[in-house]
Amino acid sequence: MPAITVDDILVLPRIAEPDAAALVRPVASITTAPSGFEGEGFPVRRAFAGIDLAALDPFIHMDQMGSVDWEPGAAKGTSWHPHRGFETVTYLLDGVFRHEDSNGGGGTISDGDTQWMTAGGGILHIEAPPADVVARGGTFHGIQLWVNLPSRLKMTAPRYQDIRGGEVALLSSHDGGALIRVIAGEVGGHRGPGITHTPIALLHATVSPGAELKLPWPREYNALVYVLSGDGTVGPDRRPLRSGQLAVLGAGDVVAVTAHDSQDSRSPALDVLVLGGSPIGEPVAAYGPFVMNTKAELQQAYDDFQAGRLGKVP
Ligand code: FE2
Repeated sequence: MPAITVDDILVLPRIAEPDAAALVRPVASITTAPSGFEGEGFPVRRAFAGIDLAALDPFIHMDQMGSVDWEPGAAKGTSWHPHRGFETVTYLLDGVFRHEDSNGGGGTISDGDTQWMTAGGGILHIEAPPADVVARGGTFHGIQLWVNLPSRLKMTAPRYQDIRGGEVALLSSHDGGALIRVIAGEVGGHRGPGITHTPIALLHATVSPGAELKLPWPREYNALVYVLSGDGTVGPDRRPLRSGQLAVLGAGDVVAVTAHDSQDSRSPALDVLVLGGSPIGEPVAAYGPFVMNTKAELQQAYDDFQAGRLGKVP
């Protein structure tokens, strides 16, 4: 799993070990993401399937895209499609993806890069592997996360942030056993580059076999742990958690994850995404590419799209 790695974790700033009296967040649920297909046919795991939206708030949806090894000519993407009312965050661990949108944003992202697109009032975009990558094939692995916007920001102007892998804040766990990449928000006083409308934290950690990751986590945030690959445990009772599983955590001060001593040969460490944010606490009306507060606003979004008011394909 390439993403961004370092030769020596021990030279990185360390996250202080949380106080022994701090409450480790208990496990509220563990679910296994079902597999499906997105766009023109790339394989995804629906990380949040079956979870109540109230437990996910401010997040809506997350797909793990791949990991897949495309044969030459087989790599797939999406066609042009609209969004309104939220932000899409695409974090690429492996491979190359091209993004283009009707607002003039876009570019190519590869290993460890993130594109952060605020759809706001409306945008059209396309995400696909570049032609040369389609021709030669190769590995592809990424995440797409949907972050909701509160009603006052649903119609905000679209915004595009191109976050290079090298800009991500790299940290070490307190004992040097885990590499932490802060993509957005703040963890233990260290801030990542992503600028978010809704207060959240998003990080990717690689936990060495046998190591423990303890992250201070804001009380007002929810907390989700998704395993990209590997085997480990989560929470104070060390509940088992493996590749493709999501843990929703309850209230507390600390997110705790451990990696099993022995890991699968294909994934030598435990790789997890840890994410959370301030719940927006508003009604959610979500359908297809639109996330609004009411059914009437969904209908308006659909009508606006049909009338070409969400943007034009450049
Ligand atoms: Fe999209």
